[in-house]
Amino acid sequence: MCGIVGILGNRPATPVIMETLHRLEYRGYDSAGIATLDEGKMQSRRAVGKLSELETLLAEQPLSGTSGIGHTRWATHGAANVENAHPHRAGTVAVVHNGIIENFRELRDELTAEGVNFASDTDTEVVAQLCARYIAAGKTPVEAAAATLARLQGAFALGFLFEGEHDLMIAARRGSPLAIGHGTGEMFIGSDALALAPLTNRITYLEEGDWAVLTRTGAEIFDALGNPVERELRIVNVDQVMIDKGSYRHFMAKEIHEQPSVMAFALSHYLNPERTAVSLPVEIDFSGLDRLVLVACGTAFYACNVAKYWFEQIARIPVEIDVASEFRYREPPMSGREGAIFISQSGETADTLAALRYVRGKAAHVLAVVNVPESSISREADASLQIMAGPEISVASTKAFTCQLSVLATLAIAAARQRDAIDATGETRLVKALTGAPQLVAQAIKQEPAMEAASRDLAKARDILFLGRGPLFPLALEGALKLKELSYIHAEGYPSGELKHGPIALIDDSVPVIVFAPSDDLFDKTVSNMEEVMARGGKVLLITDEQGAEAASHGTWRTIVLPATDPFVAPMVYAVPAQLLAYHTALEKGTDVDQPRNLAKSVTVE
Ligand code: G6P
Repeated sequence: MCGIVGILGNRPATPVIMETLHRLEYRGYDSAGIATLDEGKMQSRRAVGKLSELETLLAEQPLSGTSGIGHTRWATHGAANVENAHPHRAGTVAVVHNGIIENFRELRDELTAEGVNFASDTDTEVVAQLCARYIAAGKTPVEAAAATLARLQGAFALGFLFEGEHDLMIAARRGSPLAIGHGTGEMFIGSDALALAPLTNRITYLEEGDWAVLTRTGAEIFDALGNPVERELRIVNVDQVMIDKGSYRHFMAKEIHEQPSVMAFALSHYLNPERTAVSLPVEIDFSGLDRLVLVACGTAFYACNVAKYWFEQIARIPVEIDVASEFRYREPPMSGREGAIFISQSGETADTLAALRYVRGKAAHVLAVVNVPESSISREADASLQIMAGPEISVASTKAFTCQLSVLATLAIAAARQRDAIDATGETRLVKALTGAPQLVAQAIKQEPAMEAASRDLAKARDILFLGRGPLFPLALEGALKLKELSYIHAEGYPSGELKHGPIALIDDSVPVIVFAPSDDLFDKTVSNMEEVMARGGKVLLITDEQGAEAASHGTWRTIVLPATDPFVAPMVYAVPAQLLAYHTALEKGTDVDQPRNLAKSVTVE
């Protein structure tokens, strides 16, 4: 993970770097650092903890200069302490790094044998030391960086700055994303275009294996073999409003409340309202496929879980789902007649990207469902479908999830039509239900006060169980994940029917059990499981609709009433309590909602 930034500017570099780092803090926040060049002389500052710590240090010990690099870290090798914080310096070289240098031990042993002393436990320091070694041996900084890159294995995005070289910065990309920003008489590098948005919208994305030599007037780009290459300069317009908290206390709150509008926006690109039909922006042929393989990580994986029910029940196509880190290494056999779909908000998750690379050439279609159109997963798939949620800043994914579901729902309908599993009337019914989903999500959000009230008690619990059946089972998983990551309370999601096979042993009056139960065909079954909990003294928070509340709220600890929904879109509507219960429980506990401990939003390491 980690966020990196660099500037060759014509104004003080420190404030620009700090502001950019703030926009990259979602990538990691256990330490941060910055190095600048003032008339060729390099100085650096590093601090443990969030960027505010580095800001405090810089207020006491300011850094001048118009060129510099900065870093916000999510530790992989070595504890989160000052020594391990980036930039790493050796001789005249300073380096910031995102990713993992896989052969760092070998390189470290080699350099140690030559008498080099290491100041940190990181994999990154070998990059600085190796480059400094080449410079000491007579190479120019550019030659030294090229020679260093040739020795590195693993995944990385790197930024190099050199003492005495006021107008030089080197950037390299292998496996981890890196964007070059073109200013007026200024050049920038950043882990994503979003971070560079206030500085420039003129962006060049480095391709796999590329490295670039930057001066204030431009960038010369080379491929992995050292051949000069041209890479497209694109105008990337990021809506500034979307990366602002507005009147909300947290990005997460803002992103939860944005869901009705972003879902509607996403759906408008996938539905034809006049014909009440699906109209996909790219052509996908589901008719001859054997099965679908859906792969993702984290919350995006729970979107795959929901989609499995849709594709199997509506389109009658078998679906295999897996988390990317398992899928990529178990070498699943492929028949060549599968459609493989990779779902990722960031489009940069290392495991999901590796899984995509595994199936490329082995599956009939490789599709990406992403929120960042220029991302690696988007670019490497045969076709890419955008979820159009707008920038999602809070580490815990919310609006991306409901937009992923929106897009996957349209794919399920399209697949069902192509495979003759539904007729035009069936399509119209489902499209109508889907069109109404954003409005139902808005109504569910109106129940926030009831969720906030329940959260005051949930915050006192040590363990919490979430139950759901059918497509609501993945929502139980998502509810538990959200609660764990935000409030640090242990939580588990279970299929309601599985409770009696073990987890019911946990039930007593100190373990709240949250039950997602819309009044659908499975309602009675879920209610029976809920009764089993209450019969053992369990404390049930029932989340249902009015009909469900009338039938089953007797004896529950609390009941929260959501709007009645078509079962097809219930997963989107029940995402709201999964999110808001976690949000308010975290507020009650006083944890860091937008940046929970130990996490990062974009996981670009294995
Ligand atoms: C991290 C984030 C999650 C996200 C997951 C997958 O763990 O904290 O919110 O669901 O990565 O990310 P992706 O960008 O691939 O959807």
